[in-house]
Amino acid sequence: MNTTAAIIVAVAAIVVLAALAFVTLARRTDVRGAGALSAETVRRDSSARKQRAGVEAEAAAVRSADVVEAEGKAARTGADLVPVSDDTGLAPWTPPEPEAIGVSRRQFFNRATISLMGAGIGTFSAAAFVAFLWPTKTGGFGGKVPVGRVADIEAGIASGDGFFYAPEARAWITLYPQDALPKAEEVYASSLLPGLERGFIASYQKCPHLGCRVPQCTSSQWFECGCHGSQYNRVGEKKGGPAPRGMDHFPLEFAASGEVTVDTGTIVQGPPIGTNTTGQEAEGPHCVGAVEH
Ligand code: FES
Repeated sequence: MNTTAAIIVAVAAIVVLAALAFVTLARRTDVRGAGALSAETVRRDSSARKQRAGVEAEAAAVRSADVVEAEGKAARTGADLVPVSDDTGLAPWTPPEPEAIGVSRRQFFNRATISLMGAGIGTFSAAAFVAFLWPTKTGGFGGKVPVGRVADIEAGIASGDGFFYAPEARAWITLYPQDALPKAEEVYASSLLPGLERGFIASYQKCPHLGCRVPQCTSSQWFECGCHGSQYNRVGEKKGGPAPRGMDHFPLEFAASGEVTVDTGTIVQGPPIGTNTTGQEAEGPHCVGAVEH
C-alpha cells in the first residue's frame, strides 16, 4: 500500500468515526436536551392530576349534600315533625327457663352417671338386706342337721359297734372318753367342747387327704381310708397314712328337749399330726394297710 492509499483509508476511517460520534451525541441530546419527560414521570403526573381532580369533586359533592340538607331543614315545619315514643308495643324480652331449653350432652351424661351409680348402690343395698334377713339354711348339709335324741345316738353307736353314721350330716358320731377332756380342752376348738363334755364327737366323713369317704373299721375300732390308707383313731386323730392332719369335726348342739343337732355349716379343721388325746390303739386287725409317709 502506497502513501496515497494509506491517506485515503485514514480519511475514510476518520469520516466513519466522526459520523458515529455525531449519531450518538444526537440521540442523547434527544433525551436530555429537549426537556421531554420519561414515561414513568408522565404516568405519575397523570395519576397526581387525577387524585387532585377526585378530591375536588368529592369536596364539591359534600358541599352539595350540606346544601341539600340545609334546604331540607328550612323547608320542614313543626307540623311535619313526628314525636318519638318509647312505647313500641312489643313485650319485653325475658330469658327462657333452663328446663325449657333442654338438656345439654354434658348434663345428660352427668345425670346418667349419677342415676346408674344410685341404682347400683340401691340394688346392692337391697340384696345385702335381703340376704341378711334370709333364714339360715337348716335341715340339710351345710346347715344344722338334727340327728335324733341323745338316747337314739347312744343306741346307734352301740348297734354300730362303736360308730353311728348320720348320712344327712355326712358325719360319724362316736363316743369321747371323759377322762381325755383335760387334753381335749388344750387341743380342740371351744365350739367342739359342748359335744365332748356330753361324751360325743362328730367327725366329717371326708378324708383330709384327698376327700374320699372314710369308713369305720370295727375290728380295729379306727377309721381307715380305703383310698390311700390313712388311719385315724375312733375320735378322728390321725394314726397313719398320707393325710396331713386328723379328721375334721362339726360342733354338736343339744336342745333342752334332748334333740341333738350337727352344725355342718361350721367345719372345724382336724387336729395336727401327733395329736393323741385318747391314747386309743388299734383294738384288732386293720381293714386297710397303712401307708407311712
Ligand atoms: S383320700 Fe383318704 S388317704 Fe387319700
